[in-house]
Amino acid sequence: MGRPESQAVLPSRPFWAMTLGLSAEREGTFVRRPLVIVTRKLPDAIETRMMELFDARLNTDDAPLDEAALKAAAGEAEVLVPTLTDRIGADVIDAAGPRLKLIANFGTGVDHIDLAAAKAKGITVTNTPGVLTEDTADMTMALILATARRLTEGERVMRQHQWTGWAPTFMLGHRLWGRRLGIVGMGRIGQALARRAKGFGLAIHYHNRRRVPDEVAQELDATYWESLDQMLARMDFVSVNCPHTPATYHLLSARRLKLLRPSAIIVNTARGGVIDEEMLAQMLRNRDIAGAGLDVYEREPDMDPSLLTLDNVVLLPHMSSATIEGRIDMGEKVILNIKTFVDGHRPPDRVLASML
Ligand code: DGY
Repeated sequence: MGRPESQAVLPSRPFWAMTLGLSAEREGTFVRRPLVIVTRKLPDAIETRMMELFDARLNTDDAPLDEAALKAAAGEAEVLVPTLTDRIGADVIDAAGPRLKLIANFGTGVDHIDLAAAKAKGITVTNTPGVLTEDTADMTMALILATARRLTEGERVMRQHQWTGWAPTFMLGHRLWGRRLGIVGMGRIGQALARRAKGFGLAIHYHNRRRVPDEVAQELDATYWESLDQMLARMDFVSVNCPHTPATYHLLSARRLKLLRPSAIIVNTARGGVIDEEMLAQMLRNRDIAGAGLDVYEREPDMDPSLLTLDNVVLLPHMSSATIEGRIDMGEKVILNIKTFVDGHRPPDRVLASML
């Protein structure tokens, strides 16, 4: 007597499908759908597709999960879809049940996930690189312009009915054209920023672990600085565009920040932890540097409170990649990563600590 269809074992069971228990169980002609727990509200189109493809448990209220809820989700899920607001430390990984085999992060940065703990427990981690590049570069350029040209200060004047009319010395900012931009981290976003900045007449300089390929350096007319210290001391603008890893935590330390020129403007759309925020705030208060454009903070959603009192700072609420198109693309990537994994293949955006 043959096995009933529902118990059929496929001839070659791929590792991932096997570990999710997918190839041994069938419902009709369809492989059983994995339990996918999503920690935050995602765009409607993505949630709908997830419901079609997976046994998806969504968070339509969008209330962030506390630590206990996160551990419970990890304990139950076969695939967990967190975002940067979820701290997936070793304790959460430890609470993961035997069925959790994939953490498909909704976002590119994975500094909130303990990759070593995940690896030790045999859990694959994926992210959503590439689709946020142009949006983030746009916003980085916007922050450079807003800070140098006092955009938000001007807007506040208008909204507070304080404008008494044009004057030759009113609201003077600084021009971008002909000045030097130093990009810390010349990956996808750094290069996309460089393309935009070149169009604004900025000279492109960069520090990176490796030089970019010659053709990229030529296209961008970019000057490589092996020494971050030396680059920082010579730039008019500095933009932080590297990932946050143990190696880049406080890369812009108190010592390095002090190398900046008093006329320098610093912009950060990467992660708050790359800059020593306390020292940055102190230098902005003392006018040791001219200004800062910040989209990210060390302890989000908190920040050094003195930043809120300063006119030489433009503050955004971590929204550099926040476009509806970008969020949908991110969701599509998450779905593709899950689908590929569940089907027994290596997901396209697997993250390994050694890649960061
Ligand atoms: C990311 O994907 O890491 C971004 O910071 C989200 O905005």
